Amino acid sequence: MSLDAYMSERAARTESWLDRLLPPSGESPEVLHQAMRYSLLGGGKRLRPVLCIATSEMFAAAEGDVMPVACALEMVHTYSLIHDDLPAMDNDDLRRGRPTCHKVYGEAMAILAGDALLTRAFGVLAEATSGPDARSNLSARRLRIIERLAMAAGGSRGMVGGQVIDLESEGKALDVEHLDALHAAKTGALLTAAVVTGAIAGGASDDDIATLERYGRNVGLAFQIADDVLDVTSTPEQLGKTPGKDAAAAKATYPGLFGIEASKTRARHLVDDAIAVVEPFGAGAERLREIACFVIDRRK
Ligand code: IPE
Ligand code: IPE
Ligand code: MG
Ligand code: MG
Ligand code: MG
Repeated sequence: MSLDAYMSERAARTESWLDRLLPPSGESPEVLHQAMRYSLLGGGKRLRPVLCIATSEMFAAAEGDVMPVACALEMVHTYSLIHDDLPAMDNDDLRRGRPTCHKVYGEAMAILAGDALLTRAFGVLAEATSGPDARSNLSARRLRIIERLAMAAGGSRGMVGGQVIDLESEGKALDVEHLDALHAAKTGALLTAAVVTGAIAGGASDDDIATLERYGRNVGLAFQIADDVLDVTSTPEQLGKTPGKDAAAAKATYPGLFGIEASKTRARHLVDDAIAVVEPFGAGAERLREIACFVIDRRK
């Protein structure tokens, strides 16, 4: 199966699980559930779920063990996008080819839809550890996953911490070390968590998890460099969001500080490193190698 077909299949599987894990839009308060569904369903590359699933498949995880994890990752990611787009942050009107959540539902509802998605993510992870179907090894793994996701999302070196540095760095010329730290936190942490939680869901050994974490860190950083490059080189039609916003807000970005070509070279080296890191897994890591290339070759 081509990577394209593989990603479409896993994205579709994620979509149908997400649909089932959210309250229906007709349930009260309707506007909240509509806003959650508007942002979560029908768009996005689903890269975090795909990374999580692909990693879990290396360890033959059962679908029922990994899909709630994949969905929790996408819920956290989507909440981060809703809040990232708010006027108080990046003030964006376009996301995933459609008006942003606050443009459709208003700022208050967008904040609350984000809050609800974040909270639901942890509810989904906790649910499977209780009730008649709970298994003790599943419960132990889920607790590790919850801990890991909480750190990646809200830790000072996680997404929220990274968003703080992002806002504080506007107009500043960061050196490469600080820029790496910013990107690793705001974007790399959740992408790394996608790989690590997929490994945990599959029952991987601690050594294998540590190796995969190195892969995730490289891919995560490369991903944000590519995002920064696309903001300079792409169009709204292709990207589904408004390009040129980083320069307008004087964001600290790779192309802004080092130029397009140097940024692409750095991203390529990170991907080469990621591919080398998973070499010991042999053919089992082929999807991860393909996904690493996708992260920098993508058009959106
Ligand atoms: C965009 O992430 C925000 C960043 C972390 C750079 P994606 O490019 O994965 O966005 P979607 O999920 O495909 O819309
Ligand atoms: C946002 O980075 C990362 C998040 C944690 C949401 P950007 O602000 O560059 O993401 P886009 O370009 O708006 O998707
Ligand atoms: Mg931002
Ligand atoms: Mg943004
Ligand atoms: Mg961006």
